[in-house]
Amino acid sequence: MPPFRAPRGTRDLLPDVSAGLRRLEGVARSLSDRYGYRAMETPMFEQTAVFERGIGEVTDVVEKELFRIAPRSEEAEGWALRPEATAGIVRAFVQHGMQTWPQPVKLTVVGPMFRYDRPQAGRYRQFWQWDAEAIGDPGPAVDAEMVEMGYRFYVEAGVPDVQVLLNSIGDGACRPAYLELLTAYFRRHETQLPELERRRLDSNPLRLLDSKDPAMTALVAAAPRIGEHLCEGCTAHFAAVKAHMDALGVPYRVEPTLVRGLDYYTRTAFEYYRRGAEGQQQALGGGGRYDGLVELLGGRATPGIGFALGLDRVLLALAETGATDVAEVPPLAVVVGADPADTAARLRVASLLRGEGLRVRAELAPRKLGRQLETASRDHAHFAVIVGDELAEGNVQLKDLEAGTQRLVPLVDLAHELARAAKSHHHG
Ligand code: HAM
Repeated sequence: MPPFRAPRGTRDLLPDVSAGLRRLEGVARSLSDRYGYRAMETPMFEQTAVFERGIGEVTDVVEKELFRIAPRSEEAEGWALRPEATAGIVRAFVQHGMQTWPQPVKLTVVGPMFRYDRPQAGRYRQFWQWDAEAIGDPGPAVDAEMVEMGYRFYVEAGVPDVQVLLNSIGDGACRPAYLELLTAYFRRHETQLPELERRRLDSNPLRLLDSKDPAMTALVAAAPRIGEHLCEGCTAHFAAVKAHMDALGVPYRVEPTLVRGLDYYTRTAFEYYRRGAEGQQQALGGGGRYDGLVELLGGRATPGIGFALGLDRVLLALAETGATDVAEVPPLAVVVGADPADTAARLRVASLLRGEGLRVRAELAPRKLGRQLETASRDHAHFAVIVGDELAEGNVQLKDLEAGTQRLVPLVDLAHELARAAKSHHHG
């Protein structure tokens, strides 16, 4: 047993998995470009209050899953690792006066998030999200555009059978009356409620609907549904979102029990699932509208909508379908030497080629030339550059390992020759 291991709920992404993650990041960056979202970064930690106020104090994410950083004695402020990106992005929107920029401001973040979750497959304490936010547009067209961009991500990433679940969860006009109804309903079943849910009944009854406690499943299924208690404004907005979705041809299902786990949502809410896996609380991604969040974090009232797609879960889904392999690219050439001890000459030639943008490895083990050439073939290198006595006259031997041919090449032409060979090799 090694003495140290990665912390529980985290994992090392070894090169194969890391390459898969970078590929997904590439799809996300490309889509962000095409849809007009500009990349930014926020700190990995924020004042705890940003999350408490933004996401809501009575939510799983803040109550149970926040990684709080113990403040050093001289600092009054408490910090926490970011459990998601939206609160931080909106904090930045307010801090940097982005309400004076042309609206909407479309921003995106790709990076790790941290939640003190109970670790299990698809649930980690450090995980990666692609997050996108459009701030300053009340919708409904941008809502559909947002849902479609996320859907397209799964298509381009190669995840089959992704289903969009869609709902409207009301706004300040219709939610209060609905919450009264909901509270009365759960109050009638109070004796059946687990302790946490009973506590939340007074502070945040909506959170009972996304409870992870299996004892709640039947109660939640029979609870009054927000979709049936929307005000006129929310009803019209939702109808228009659906009409835009239909126009875009994105398949979706209206799911009246979908409420999401964060407090900032208003109106449009959506999640992405693998078809058939909707019941397992393992969404591939989710998002929604948050028309009150900018104001809540100290800005001028500004509507917004966004999503976050969990990249770890996409990698898992791809692994299930066997579509994760990102091929390792072999070096174009390996620089070997006739004099086993002269590693400096090999490094010098390799350095020259790398400076010209070529992918080369230098053989640094002081072994016989024959053995050096064997490892070059094993690496699937196309060429070996043999550094020997000819170097004194400014020449090296260039050996084509696939054709088995060899010729003398001036060092000054070597990079050019290799680059040309690489090109014809790729096209041939
Ligand atoms: P969320 O639903 O909390 O939303 O998370 C979005 C996605 O992140 C989930 O669907 C899941 O794929 C992934 N995820 C969450 N927790 C974990 C975990 N412990 N391990 C692995 N993956 C996880 C948000 O984060 C909102 N900020 C989305 C949003 C953006 N709403 C508006 N704008």
